[in-house]
Amino acid sequence: MITDLPLFPPQASTAASQVDALYFFLLAISAFFSLLIAGLLFTFAIRYRRRAGAQAPPAPPHALALEVAWSLIPLGIVMVVFAWGTSVYFHLSRPPDDTLDILVVGKRWMWKLQHLNGRREIDELHVPVGRAVKLTMTSEDVIHSFYVPAFRIKADVVPGRYSTTWFSATRPGRYHLFCAEYCGTKHSAMGGWVTVMEPAQFEEWLTGTTAGEATPVSAGQKLFTSLGCVTCHREDSKGRGPLLEGLYGRTVELRNGDRVTADEAYLRESIVNPGAKIPAGYQPLMPTFRGLVTEEGILDLIEYIKSLSPERPAPSARERAPERGARP
Ligand code: CUA
Repeated sequence: MITDLPLFPPQASTAASQVDALYFFLLAISAFFSLLIAGLLFTFAIRYRRRAGAQAPPAPPHALALEVAWSLIPLGIVMVVFAWGTSVYFHLSRPPDDTLDILVVGKRWMWKLQHLNGRREIDELHVPVGRAVKLTMTSEDVIHSFYVPAFRIKADVVPGRYSTTWFSATRPGRYHLFCAEYCGTKHSAMGGWVTVMEPAQFEEWLTGTTAGEATPVSAGQKLFTSLGCVTCHREDSKGRGPLLEGLYGRTVELRNGDRVTADEAYLRESIVNPGAKIPAGYQPLMPTFRGLVTEEGILDLIEYIKSLSPERPAPSARERAPERGARP
């Protein structure tokens, strides 16, 4: 296989062979037409070179069949590229339902990662083989880009918003993690390793040494109290703020008549810029928490708010178990 050449990173995710197949198809098409055009150029240059006494023939009339052919054939080829590229793009951009969720914060010049049971990592990510892993990512400063060549994933990590990407690793091993967006002096050093483990080994790793580390949900709950969110978002607050129970994933009606889905991006915006989308029936009373809470704190708050919607799909039941004290 061509991908065994040291020129290519190993194929270690479900997306890798799909991305490579498309890539080689594009490469083959480009090579074919480059050679065809260069070859004809040389052939015609030699065959029709200026000779003594030769007369240039008159220009031929329209060759309709030829013109239609050289329009339709390229159209067909780019349509194949379009359809193929779109299907690979959809696969890469839509995580399956049952994912292992991991929070990622990029910061000059390190990757901070956290598992939902509270286990934190820096410039290292441990994941089980054969499980879809979804990354919810943001940046504390400038644009970074989360890049794991062996998984064929690369996604910008942008301050002020969440981006997500996902992968399902197919081979245990250690794979390079890079930052693929120039972000300052130590951009080239901003990277690390993704370690893919057997599921049982991963489970052991995950639960082995989390003693003393707060889960995002419990850290979020603490922030919720210490930042005073709880004074307005509760039953007896006389309707100052909406209740957050069951909010995540629901459709929210706004004062201006619009509707939004209460996803991570909406929750984040409502924390840092509360005036942007006021739910119907409420006043714009909430102060901004921009600058008062770190990006990791906001992710914690969101995980806490998500935990108030127990009917949401429970893909991560396994790694959430320890939060309820089920850990031995
Ligand atoms: Cu972060 Cu380049």
